[in-house]
Amino acid sequence: MLTEIEAARTAALASIAAAGSADDLRRLDTELLGKKGALAGLKAGLGRLATVDEKKAAGAVLNDAVASVEAALAERLALLAREERNLQLAAEAIDLTEHFRPSSRGRAHIVTQAWQRLEDVFVGLGFQVAEGPEVETDWYNFEALNMPPSHPARSMHDTFYIDHGAPGSTVLRTHTSPVQIRVMQELEPPIYMVMPGRVFRNETTDSTHLAVFHQIEGLVIDRGITLADLAGTIEAFTKAFFGEGFGSRLRPSYFPFTEPSAEFDIRTPDGSWLELGGCGMVHPNVLRAGGLDPEEWSGFAFGFGIDRMAKERHGVGDVREMYTNDLRFIEQF
Ligand code: PHE
Repeated sequence: MLTEIEAARTAALASIAAAGSADDLRRLDTELLGKKGALAGLKAGLGRLATVDEKKAAGAVLNDAVASVEAALAERLALLAREERNLQLAAEAIDLTEHFRPSSRGRAHIVTQAWQRLEDVFVGLGFQVAEGPEVETDWYNFEALNMPPSHPARSMHDTFYIDHGAPGSTVLRTHTSPVQIRVMQELEPPIYMVMPGRVFRNETTDSTHLAVFHQIEGLVIDRGITLADLAGTIEAFTKAFFGEGFGSRLRPSYFPFTEPSAEFDIRTPDGSWLELGGCGMVHPNVLRAGGLDPEEWSGFAFGFGIDRMAKERHGVGDVREMYTNDLRFIEQF
């Protein structure tokens, strides 16, 4: 009897050690310790032993065997359950460090970078930053800027009209200049303000033109402002933004909202000139539209393309590249 018990215990412990999963172990539990198991069979056989002492001795060994099988089952079950849980955790783990790998780190688009750098440079020169709406009234976009309804200069702006209010009264702003008027209406001079934003023109796109692009407007209103202040500001900006090796010049031009008006170009270190934008002394009619007395206040304004700046700075051949959202392009900067 005792050898049979030992054999049953050894066999049970061996099958427990060999169990490969928690499910296997749960099956073994019934198999080894259930009514039909070898140990239960031996227990039933105790009655056939001859003496009480034999029964006692065999019973004690049998209890010990059952206890050791139970303990082995519990121990191995805990181990396997832990292993299975670890495997599951590993399989379902989310790598939260993934987004911090340099190869997938996000960045600002080059137009946004140019926009932010322009703001920084102008803030450094003492300007504040304002923004206006992209959907404008005809009055702010044209009329207040000295372009009455029949003005020929309007034909230079290929306008997108919005179906809102009286026909032709609402437009997608064709430039950031309407924000000049809004700023004058809202603030008391002296005003030193830049106004970046998105503008729209009903234009066929090509490598240097977009129908949706960005400008930054500048407006200075103070007492005794002259063209020299304008030229000096453009020069200071050019050196601050592009570097000491760069310079600027003004060329006579025409805008209805400035008088006199000029185009401004920058000179690159190799001596070539790059056309950047328009500028001039704020027209008296524009000051009046903004609620200011031209006898008391004078000022200058300028405006130029931000996309153009980003294009030149990074040597992008075709402005359209900047809006195809091809990551291979964007990730280069
Ligand atoms: N608004 C003009 C344009 O879009 C640029 C400009 C701004 C010219 C301010 C003069 C003064 O072409």
